[in-house]
Amino acid sequence: MSLSLIVNSNHVASAADPVTPLVDVLREELHLTGAKPVCREGFCGACMVLVDGEPKLSCLMPTALVAGCEIRTIEGLATQGQLNPIQAALEASDAVQCGMCFPGMVVSLTHLLTTRPDATRDDIRAALTGNICRCTGYERIIEATLLALVAK
Ligand code: FES
Repeated sequence: MSLSLIVNSNHVASAADPVTPLVDVLREELHLTGAKPVCREGFCGACMVLVDGEPKLSCLMPTALVAGCEIRTIEGLATQGQLNPIQAALEASDAVQCGMCFPGMVVSLTHLLTTRPDATRDDIRAALTGNICRCTGYERIIEATLLALVAK
């Protein structure tokens, strides 16, 4: 049996077992390694992707449950080589992290900018509660997100 997936606007088929976590299909079959399987227990947010526009933990998501959904990973957030507003603001503010947690943070913040153009500093903090960072660079990320909101 093959699973039909829509990943970053591409229709792809997966031969994975239906209960295989989405993060493993993304990384091992599709070679999209931005989402990271760090804790695999739903605590860290490093595996965050958008499913039909909503942030979801791909380590806890059986792939069969997202068949036919629009899955967007960190690799699919830029459009035609143009960074999205939060990516551009983070880059311009030099608010980058080691790369383990960061893709998940960018996915969460992309969702925030899309759904809450009036978001406050507290809203940004709330949006990142599911993204754990050991580099502890939250403040620069929050400042960059506020810049992206103003520029919108
Ligand atoms: Fe999914 Fe940590 S790897 S929440």
